[in-house]
Amino acid sequence: MDNKQPSFNEQEQNPLTSLDQWEDAVLERYPTPESIATSKSVDEYRNYDTPERDTVREFYRLNHTYQTYDFVVEKRNNFLRFDKKEMPVWEAFQFLNQLVDDSDPDTDLDQFQHLLQTSEAIRNDGHPDWMVLTGLMHDMGKVLCLFGEPQWAVVGDTFPVGCPYSDKVVYPEFFRNNPDYQNKAYQEGCGIYQRGCGLRNVHMSWGHDEYVYQMMKDHLPESGLYMLRYHSFYAWHREGAYDYLLDDHDREMLKWVKLFNPYDLYSKNPVPPDWNKLRPYYEDLVAKYLPATLKF
Ligand SMILES: [Fe+2]
Ligand SMILES: [Fe+2]
Repeated sequence: MDNKQPSFNEQEQNPLTSLDQWEDAVLERYPTPESIATSKSVDEYRNYDTPERDTVREFYRLNHTYQTYDFVVEKRNNFLRFDKKEMPVWEAFQFLNQLVDDSDPDTDLDQFQHLLQTSEAIRNDGHPDWMVLTGLMHDMGKVLCLFGEPQWAVVGDTFPVGCPYSDKVVYPEFFRNNPDYQNKAYQEGCGIYQRGCGLRNVHMSWGHDEYVYQMMKDHLPESGLYMLRYHSFYAWHREGAYDYLLDDHDREMLKWVKLFNPYDLYSKNPVPPDWNKLRPYYEDLVAKYLPATLKF
């Protein structure tokens, strides 16, 4: 590719003190399983000045500015080769756990605990075992940070690239800084897509959702794959935006994405699950669906 990506300093790579800061901000936007962001709640969300809020705002500024269509294509070409690393599943969780909150290593549960709390909440509600496994794996894509990727190319609400931006994406005003905003082919009509083409034909902003979906795509049922691939696409599953890109299959699958979201957002608990008790169940579950090693 001839147009070189800009390089980023430490502040621009990692505007958040931890990846959890993004998730905490999502939780503030969607405080209940039913909530959608009304204009009132969006205003409240923005107008409340705290250093934390400024950090999240800066994170979205970077995300919306630099996630261009070309950026996404370049990241896909690089990371979807899965030629970086190969690990047994349980080693991969340890690897993921190297992502720690530098500012405050004691207060937040590690990444594995979030995954386990999500999967346990799903299991306690009696859902099928593949959905429990989906919960366990859903944030494995955050290992991208450990490959030196900027936080805004790993987490953050995802959105389609190559078509007009929706104002249902949080902080839509920052899209004006994105070079794609000036590209008529992207910003008129359906952009580069056909109406009703189906989300599978749409490139989403790059991050942990698409990466883990591609990693798991031969191992989980379609409904689980939708949960992985679109769990951060809040503008779709919470706000109903981008209807013109959907096909009937997406509309059918939306219920699974919606079913999953509360387990991700509302299962956080300061008490870590008792891993020693849970271990035999999860070892069997992983062995049932996943290969011995995962490629990254
Ligand atoms: Fe996630
Ligand atoms: Fe999560």
